[in-house]
Amino acid sequence: MDKIKSGNYRVVSGITPSGSSMHIGNYFGMAKPAIELQENSGGAFLFIADLHALTTVHNSEELKGNITNVVLDYLALGLDPDKATFFRQSDVPEHSLLTVVLGNYISYGHMKRMHAFKDKLQKGTNQDSINMGLFNYPILMAADILLYKPDGVPVGEDQRQHVEITRDMAESFNKAYGKEIFPLPEAVISKETGKIVGTDGKRKMSKSLGNIIGIFEDESLIKKQIMSSYTDPNRKKSTDPGKVEGNPVFQYHDLINDDKSEVEDLKKRYREGKVGDVEVKDRLFTAHMRLFDPARKRRKELENNLDLVREILEKGAEKAGEISKKTMTEVYETLGIRNQLNV
Ligand code: TYM
Repeated sequence: MDKIKSGNYRVVSGITPSGSSMHIGNYFGMAKPAIELQENSGGAFLFIADLHALTTVHNSEELKGNITNVVLDYLALGLDPDKATFFRQSDVPEHSLLTVVLGNYISYGHMKRMHAFKDKLQKGTNQDSINMGLFNYPILMAADILLYKPDGVPVGEDQRQHVEITRDMAESFNKAYGKEIFPLPEAVISKETGKIVGTDGKRKMSKSLGNIIGIFEDESLIKKQIMSSYTDPNRKKSTDPGKVEGNPVFQYHDLINDDKSEVEDLKKRYREGKVGDVEVKDRLFTAHMRLFDPARKRRKELENNLDLVREILEKGAEKAGEISKKTMTEVYETLGIRNQLNV
């Protein structure tokens, strides 16, 4: 962490456009910390992992929409393209090139132990029907990261294993050639926000589980998402003393509500059985609208200025391309693929 503060710390992070828009789990778990790190002189490489979305999205219209939405969300939430390098993964072909290389430095056995793959198996999917994109997902992710030789990778807890396997690939590559081509990056995961619980109160908030609180959806939908959130199951009436710890609605208040004295007052009254769940949720909704209102307005402006967005992405891909081309040249030289016939 001291290194982060030193101002020369480079970070890389991506988001997969597999759902329609960002939710508060993405925002507090990854986007907010990554955006804060854009101030760092070591540079922030933040991208839309559109190739990763192919593991689940096989409908071109849906994918087009998802990509546009996540790009607009990210910019609206405060990503500054003059400070961070913001781009689309597919616009920088070196991500795919390095993927082909890195697959040779990790074993099948190691890949089989990855969560995303194991989760599918646990959900009853037949092993033989799992697509190879999903199986190879961590290799593409390792390429995303290693191309930029970052110090850290700001992510949520669910991505920890992917950063670990990235380190393993880097280590085994470095060892094979006896030099440190890839410095080992560390996962940057916040203790407080690395795993935001979903509105079902059980699993992590996730687009695929349908337990999210959105940021940019219609007010009525966000209200519905908040109102249907799990609270304290043992509380039958608003006069029963309620539990604040582990109660997702209060976790959301801690994250979203900038009126800290209101939050303390609600917690106190909840514990004493002096406030109903509806009021607690109503106030959460008001706080949500207050916090995200500027971003929601910015997003509307961006929607009407897609030329600017295209320009931002083009510039970002150019900047990312400069570094990733350099790394690929170094990699091909190290491998022996660059020889007297192609220099
Ligand atoms: P993705 O798109 O599923 O999620 C984007 C980021 O949001 C974090 N996140 C959460 N954090 C806290 N609580 C939650 N409930 C929550 N839900 C999501 C994720 O941990 C992630 O950091 N494989 C990645 C994208 C990726 C990437 C990369 C990340 C591709 N290449 C290279 C870092 C570096 C993914 O699918 O994240």
